[in-house]
Amino acid sequence: RKGNSSKEQVHLHDLVQQLPKAIIIGVRKGGTRALLEMLNLHPAVVKASQEIHFFDNDENYAKGIDWYRKKMPFSYPQQITIEKSPAYFITEEVPERIYKMNSSIKLLIIVREPTTRAISDYTQVLEGKERKNKTYYKFEKLAIDPNTCEVNTKYKAVRTSIYTKHLERWLKYFPIEQFHIVDGDRLITEPLPELQLVEKFLNLPPRISQYNLYFNATRGFYCLRFNIIFNKCLAGSKGRIHPEVDPSVITKLRKFFHPFNQKFYQITGRILNWP
Ligand code: A3P
Repeated sequence: RKGNSSKEQVHLHDLVQQLPKAIIIGVRKGGTRALLEMLNLHPAVVKASQEIHFFDNDENYAKGIDWYRKKMPFSYPQQITIEKSPAYFITEEVPERIYKMNSSIKLLIIVREPTTRAISDYTQVLEGKERKNKTYYKFEKLAIDPNTCEVNTKYKAVRTSIYTKHLERWLKYFPIEQFHIVDGDRLITEPLPELQLVEKFLNLPPRISQYNLYFNATRGFYCLRFNIIFNKCLAGSKGRIHPEVDPSVITKLRKFFHPFNQKFYQITGRILNWP
């Protein structure tokens, strides 16, 4: 056919289901969905829309790698598939399992200021309880041990925000070069430079541009423009209003996370200057 003689011509029968070459392993409430959707703007990236939970769920993992591959979207051989399952980051067994699949896989971790992330995590759980008409504790009650008045390290939303502890487990399997840290707070306010860093990390030609991202004042977030016809914002569950938290509790948490943050910056080489 005329005008269609490019050697880059692609055929539907070339489509295959490929294992991911990169995984967004976390962190829950870091902006994992936004990161996946924004990377999917790149023509060489194909996303697995659903969280697959292959490596963190024993039942799924027992189904084998072919089950996992069949959960992947169809793509052209030169494209790369990316999936995100935020529970991977904090689940004990996952690093070894991913290593067994592909020891040279690229791992993306999107983090946010740890106290904000913990409150975001709490807000999601709270919303789930409210949907079932259940009451729930206040954040302050969960985050601070009532007996000692110290930070309650048994509370999951607190533990998940101790990023360095989790990363150190991963480093038993993968060298630090295989990780890229995305600044989730900056992805909210200024997504393009963060995405450009990821393009570099993935060895992709820079293709995501300001055209693909427009600020939606009503949502208060950036939305995605794929082309002249198709654009979208993330679901309403992304960008929840957080409950107000006692400032002294925030101060206590920030003080608690501070040394862990310093260690995290030191290990990753990414200095995020959290308060
Ligand atoms: P909040 O709901 O606390 O604001 P995850 O996808 O990992 O669950 O992360 C959800 C977080 O992504 C939201 O947390 C929100 O702040 C953040 N986010 C980043 N970019 C966004 C965007 N363009 N639209 C909506 N939410 C975005």
